[in-house]
Formats: sequence, structure tokens, C-alpha cells
Amino acid sequence: MRLTQTSDLWWKNAVVYCLDVETYQDSDGDGHGDFRGLIQRIDHLQRLGVTCIWLMPYYPSPDRDDGYDITDFYGVDPRLGSHGDFVEFVRTARDRGIRVIADLVVNHTSNQHPWFQSARRSPDSPYRDWYVWADQPPADGPQGITFPDKETSLWTYDEAAGQYYLHRFYKYQPDLNITNPAVRDEIARTIGFWLHLGLSGFRVDAVPFLLETTGQRDAAALPRPHDYLADLRSFLGRRSGEGVLLGEVNLPYPDTMTFFGSDRDELTMCFDFIGMQRMYLSLARGNAESLAEALRQRPQPPKDAHWATFVRNHDELTLDKLTDTQRQEVFEAFGPDPDMQLYGRGLRRRLPTMLGGDRDRIRMVYSLLFSMPGTPVLFYGEEIGMGEDLRAEGRLAVRTPMQWSAERNGGFSTADKSELPGPIPDGEYGPERVNVAAQERDPGALLCWVRLLIESYRRCPELAWGRYEVLDAGDSAVLAHRCDTEGGTVLAVHNFAAVPKKAALKLAGLDASCVLSDVLADGSERVANDGSVVVQLGRYGCRWLRVEHDFR
Ligand code: NOJ
Repeated sequence: MRLTQTSDLWWKNAVVYCLDVETYQDSDGDGHGDFRGLIQRIDHLQRLGVTCIWLMPYYPSPDRDDGYDITDFYGVDPRLGSHGDFVEFVRTARDRGIRVIADLVVNHTSNQHPWFQSARRSPDSPYRDWYVWADQPPADGPQGITFPDKETSLWTYDEAAGQYYLHRFYKYQPDLNITNPAVRDEIARTIGFWLHLGLSGFRVDAVPFLLETTGQRDAAALPRPHDYLADLRSFLGRRSGEGVLLGEVNLPYPDTMTFFGSDRDELTMCFDFIGMQRMYLSLARGNAESLAEALRQRPQPPKDAHWATFVRNHDELTLDKLTDTQRQEVFEAFGPDPDMQLYGRGLRRRLPTMLGGDRDRIRMVYSLLFSMPGTPVLFYGEEIGMGEDLRAEGRLAVRTPMQWSAERNGGFSTADKSELPGPIPDGEYGPERVNVAAQERDPGALLCWVRLLIESYRRCPELAWGRYEVLDAGDSAVLAHRCDTEGGTVLAVHNFAAVPKKAALKLAGLDASCVLSDVLADGSERVANDGSVVVQLGRYGCRWLRVEHDFR
């Protein structure tokens, strides 16, 4: 790791924080969060140690898929603010050392988008070929319905067009046709536009679906869709030296690897969906083996690329890559009630409720997040342990307003409850009990723990930059891994069991001249001459240990 690289490749040890402007802070009492409100809260993010904010869609939208159904790629939803507010926000974040990226949702538009409205009305519309049409749904077309609770097909017949159109997601989200060069140009223009307004890159929505052209009439026009992704990445790189593409790719590791690119760079980061799902299986079992196996199998991305790790995101906690039996194990442990489950594959819950509020266990999971190799991505509210509200529809259960204080509407808005974007949880996880203001005053609160983890993660660049190795801990409840750079070694040890454990480690290359000093607390362990060391862990305990040389 070179000094010149650490700032250039900023994403490698970034702390990404995902939020929705709509649910973060309302500045004018209309019930919707807005950019002006968000600006007031940047100091919270700076104190937390966030280095990159990921904005969920803030574009004009009929809001049938919480903003993922866009009617203008270049606009700002007027309820959230103006372009002026957007730029002020990006500038203020920058001033606090925080970069901003945003959702790039270009697999589809809203069916209310003027392009689609024009396309359906006439076969001669210049936008007709911007979407994917067929007289009959092709048998060799894409398969698999994403939202089986609402859709029965990937194709919907449009009366005005007299043809079927493809929609990977809801029927009100027609897919764009990337085999059409005009569409590809428009996507590049969109990227260029927002980079110019100050963004440092994008979280790219549904990347495999964006590139999918299977069974499409004009698929031959773009024989290698990955070339297109590589072109987009080059374009981004030309426009912004620091620009990143963080891709949503939920596929097995070997398939995900292809999205990093082989001969040319494609995505800068891919979310580690496999590691995330295995982590929940390990938690459910109180046994670290499943996660350890995933980390051992996880391929190394190209040199400047990175995995992005996460505990929860804005969608259902998908468990689609586990076997049916494994998924049932997690359902039974963390979401037995059918109302907590979604699409037969996931849970619409946040972590603290799934773990029954067990403080040690919650702290251990976030310790894992910040010590596992990859760029950690937090979802707003995780830093204070917010819960979900199952009264909200589907995935919205985990997208309730940010809880700032015990005041009206959790300090999110002064509006009437009926004007808010969704319900506010009450009871144990409501803002009276879980909020930023109270946790600021409580050194034992989750907020302070997450701050400590972030600070420590930034102080241990080995974790982000190093070569990692999963160690044999001598107990299947314990996950131990070490990260090495030329400059140093850091170990992280996590106990998945509800009882104290001892990890017996053998550390190659270390001997009795080495001391392991705790990073997250006071304490140390001596290494024996043969490199062995025993690490004590409390119930759901976690320790990060830096190798130091004792020259006495
Ligand atoms: C993936 C997003 O994460 C999800 O929230 C959205 O519904 C779909 N893409 C469609 O854009």
C-alpha cells in the first residue's frame, strides 16, 4: 500500500452510509425529508466517521417503488428540494470530508416517463426502441420474477403500443433497451451530468438485469454487454478521476467476478451478497463455519477493485442464495412470523429486532462488518439500532424516518403523522427509546460503539488494504482472520456463541517477540515462541488485535 494510493483509491477504506433524503430530516414541516434537512444533519455523519454518503433515488418519480421508478433522470424531486439544494448539500458534505454517490437506476424508467409515454403511443416515436418490445413474450427471454407478490410475468401487454414490453421489476418499470446506442448515450449523459454537479460516483441498481439482452430481438446489436459496462466505466474515469461504480450484483461469486471486468475495468465495487447471507446463517447457528467458508472461497477482485460489505440494506434481507433448508433456519431464528418474511426469500426486518435486542450480539455483528475485508456500507439508523415497523407495506418496514430525538415524530418532522412518508415505530424501538440525541449522551450506547469501530477501522488500514486469511480458531463458534500489509498485521476474532469461548490460534511468522494489543479496548495477549496464542472472548465477544513487537 503506497501513500499515493491511499487517497486516490479512497473507496478501499471508505465508510459508506446509505440514506433516503425523503426519510432523513424534514426542514419545512411538510412531512417529507429534504436536502435542506439533510444538510443540517451532515455533522452527525461527520462525527460518526462516514466518508461517503450514498443517496437513494431523489429524482422525480410517481414513487410507486420508493423512487426507483424515475420520470426524469436529470431532475430533483421537488418535494425534496431543487438542484440548488442538491449542490449545496454536496458542497457541504465535501467540506466535511464526505463524498457523495447516488443511485443510478437505468435498467428501467417509470412507465410515466415521457420517453415511455411517447414510445407506447407510436411505433414511429424516436423513443420506441428505447424499450424492449415483443409481439409475444419470447420463450428464450429472461426468466425469474423479482416481486412474485405483485407480478406474474416479466412482460406486460400495452394496449396503445399493441405489443408486450419487458419489465424486470414491477410492470410500471419498463426496461430500457441498452442494445440501442441512443440509450447508452443517454445513460452516459446522465452520469456526466451528476458528476458535474459534484457526485463521486454511483451505486448502480440491478446491474445483471441492466446488461441482460437474452432473447431480445436486437440482442445481436450488442454482442458483449460487458463491453458496454467497461465503456461506461471508462467514460466515468475520463470525467472523474475519483469516480466509482458500486454495483448491485447478487450472484454466486464466480458470476459476480465477471462484473469487476476481466481485460478492462467494469464495476469498482460489488456488494458481497454471499458473505452477507452466510453471516446470517452463521448467526442463526451460533457457528462461524458458514461465513468462514464464504470468506475462504471469496475471490480476490482486480487490484483496485473491492468488495462492499453490509449487514442490512434498504431492501428485504435476501436469503436467496442459501439452500431452502438453510433459509428456513434463518427464518426460524430471525423472522418466524410470516408477516416478517417477503417474497419467500427474505426478511423485512432490521438487525436489532432480529437479534432480540441482544446488545453483545449486535455489537459483535457491527464489529464483524468493520473488520471483514471490504468496504463497509451502513444503512441509516443502523448506528443507533433502529428497528422496523411491520405496519408499513413490504420493504418500507425498514425505511421508516430517521429517529433523531424523543420529540414529536422522532425529531424527523413537525408535520402531522398523516403527512409522513410512513409509520414511526412505537414501543421498544420507537424514538422515545432509540434516538440519536439520547445516545450522544450515553457512552455505552450503540452509537458510540459504531463510532469507535469506524475510528478503529480507519486507524487499521490493514483491514481494508491487507491480504486476509481466515484462521483455524480451534472452535467452530469462533471466526478469526488476519490481515497483513507490508507495514503491519491486524487480527479480528469474533465469537458467534452465547457463552464465553477461547480461540487457540497459530500465527505464522510470529513468535515470542510479538505482543497482540487490543484495538477496541485496553488489553493485550502474548504470543508463544511457536506463534501460538489463546484469545479469550466473552459471550458474542469480539476483539481486534494489532501485532506489535516487544523489543525488551
Ligand atoms: C433494486 C433496488 O434495491 C430495489 O429497491 C428496487 O425496487 C429495484 N432495484 C428496482 O429498481
